[in-house]
Amino acid sequence: MKKFFAILLCIMMACMSMSALAEGQKVGVSMPTKDLQRWNQDGENMQKLLEEAGYEVDLQFASNDVQQQLNQVTNMINNGAQVVVIAAIEGSSLGSALDLAKEKGIPVIAYDRLLMESDAVSYYATFDNYKVGTVQGTYIKEALDLDNAAGPFALEITAGDPGDNNALYFYQGAMDVLQPYLDAGKLTVKSGQIEFDKVATPTWKTEVAQNRATTVLANYSDGSNIDAWLCSNDSTALGVENALEDGYDGEWPIITGQDCDISNVKNMIAGKQSMSVFKDTRTLAAQVVKMVGQILAGETVDVNDTETYNNGKITVPSFLCEPVFADVNNYAELLIESGYYTADQLQ
Ligand code: BGC
Repeated sequence: MKKFFAILLCIMMACMSMSALAEGQKVGVSMPTKDLQRWNQDGENMQKLLEEAGYEVDLQFASNDVQQQLNQVTNMINNGAQVVVIAAIEGSSLGSALDLAKEKGIPVIAYDRLLMESDAVSYYATFDNYKVGTVQGTYIKEALDLDNAAGPFALEITAGDPGDNNALYFYQGAMDVLQPYLDAGKLTVKSGQIEFDKVATPTWKTEVAQNRATTVLANYSDGSNIDAWLCSNDSTALGVENALEDGYDGEWPIITGQDCDISNVKNMIAGKQSMSVFKDTRTLAAQVVKMVGQILAGETVDVNDTETYNNGKITVPSFLCEPVFADVNNYAELLIESGYYTADQLQ
C-alpha cells in the first residue's frame, strides 16, 4: 500500500512539474501590423494556442513601424521571454534586438517572413512561398490556355514589398511559369513594367497598389483589354480591383491573389477576383507552437527544409507549410466548412 501511494505521489509530482514547466515560461510574439487582416489572425491564433499550452504570452503588434518593432522585441527579451517569435516588418532591420537575443541565449523563430542578415535566427516557419507564386502563375497560364491559344494576351504585374523576403519568392515563382510566354511574345506587358523593382508595392498597402495600377491603366485608355493581372497577394489585388472599377472600361481581367482575406473572398464570389491562395494561419501557428515546445524541452525541432532559406548569414532550418489554391468553387469548403470564417462574414 505504501508503495502504491509513493508511486501515485511520483506521478502527481511529475504531472505538476510538466504543467509548471510551461506555466513559468514566457514567449514573445511580435507581429508587423494590425492593418492587414492576416496578422491579426496570426497573432490571435498564436496567443490562443500558446496560452492553451500553458505559456505566458507577450503579444505585440508594431503598426508597420520598424523602430517600434525593434523596441517591442528588445523589451520582450529584457522582460524575460524565453523564446521570441517574430514576423518582421522589414527582414533586415531587427539586427540589434537579434544580437541581444543571441547574447542572452534566447532562441528566435522567424514567423512567415525570414529575418535577414543575422546568425541569431534559430528556425523559420512559413508557407512554401515559391510555390505560392507558381500556383498564381500556373493559374494564369491555364486560364488563358497559353500553350494552345494564339494570343497575344495583355498582362500586368503587381508584386509585394521589397523589404519582405517573401515578396521576391512569390514574384519569382510566378515569373518562372510566365517568362517563357513573355519571351515568345504570347504575353505582352503594355506598361513595360516587368522587373520586380518596377512592380513592387512598398508595405504591401492597398492604396499604394491602387495608385500604381491607376497609372498603369493609362496604357489602356484606348479601350484595349487587360487579360490578366498577376497580383502577389490580396491587399495588392484589392488595390488593382479598386483602380479597375474607377478607371477601366475593358473586359474584367483574370486577377490572382493570396491570403483569402475577407474582402477578397467577397470579390471572388462577386467575380472580381479569380483566385487566391489559402494559407491557413491556424496551421502555421500550430506548427510554431510545436516548435516552441520542442525548443524549450530540448527536443529535436521539426523542420522539413534545410537548404532553401539563406538569410545572407546562415541557412535557417525551416518548416514549410503547404499553401492551397482557392477560388469560387472551393472557398466554401476551405473557409466556411473548416471554421476559418462564418458564412455571415462573407456576405
Ligand atoms: C505574407 C503574405 C501577406 C504579405 C502582406 C507576406 O509576408 O507571406 O501572406 O499577404 O506578407 O502582409
